[in-house]
Amino acid sequence: MVFKKIIRKPAENFFAGPSRATATRQAEKNLDKKVKTVVNKFGEHYKERDKCIRDKEEYLKLHESLVNKRIMDDVSVSVKPTQLGLDIDEDFFFQNFEDLVEEYRKVGLALDMESSEYVDPTIKAIKLFDYKSDNLSICLQAYLKRTKEDLEELSEFNQKVRLVKGAYREDSKISYKGKKIDQNYLDCVKYMLSDEFNCYPAIATHDKNIIDEVKQLSQDKTNFEFQMLMGVRENLQKELVKEGYNVRQYVPYGEEWFPYFYRRFKEKPSYFIFALRNFY
Ligand code: FDA
Repeated sequence: MVFKKIIRKPAENFFAGPSRATATRQAEKNLDKKVKTVVNKFGEHYKERDKCIRDKEEYLKLHESLVNKRIMDDVSVSVKPTQLGLDIDEDFFFQNFEDLVEEYRKVGLALDMESSEYVDPTIKAIKLFDYKSDNLSICLQAYLKRTKEDLEELSEFNQKVRLVKGAYREDSKISYKGKKIDQNYLDCVKYMLSDEFNCYPAIATHDKNIIDEVKQLSQDKTNFEFQMLMGVRENLQKELVKEGYNVRQYVPYGEEWFPYFYRRFKEKPSYFIFALRNFY
């Protein structure tokens, strides 16, 4: 595909290269700048069990590398449910996730959130294996109307919750559009930063207005973290660190980079056209 070839170079700004070695190197570079990392290996919507097993094994080796390099306190890992088999069979996904939970004793383990049909089983996975780890994390999307209720339900689990706006196309019956997403994001953040919420909040956005509101709302800079994507608003990431906030960068790696990059491209085509101009 010609488009894929043309955008390969600029796309490299948004992921850490092909292997876990390149991903851990990026995590180490981030640590030099006092930025934490959440690593993800590309891969989603697998229809073959052997691909899910292959990626699970890769995540086990990644865990070992992070522990050997002694960067496990500042680097966590995030996995897509359909990478572990949710498109094939729910129990197969739960089994693969449980295998990771059991090994990920020293490293935080998160589940990314995919489109709305996966929300229930993704939440269920966290609830099922909550008793095995206090190092789990889930992502919820402010564009979904159900999210405030999901936050309330997850609150009792004392894990970590990453709030994002949401990256998939959803029906307006179940999702907010436009400015209403930002409004819901802020409503959710208010709840997440209140004493009523028992999980650790990760505020994952590049939206300066929301970030400024969060700064006003938060009493204690150490009770939550900001998260942003590799390659997006890195100056803002640095600024927040300087101001004393916890910042974690989402760093994907691997060969299957195109679906991830294409989602980012569809969100902000103008930024990528700008990046392309610098390369060609
Ligand atoms: P918004 O899109 O309104 O952007 C605000 C501003 O940020 C823009 O005006 C621009 O200046 C800048 N910006 C945003 N995107 C940019 C880009 N690609 N290039 C350059 N500048 C850009 N989604 C999901 O559905 N499931 C998930 O598991 C995750 N996980 C996740 C982890 C982390 C750490 C982050 C930061 C994001 C996600 N997302 C996600 C993606 C998320 O849902 C959302 O699509 C993007 O973060 C963009 O939304 P913003 O909140 O940044 O706001």
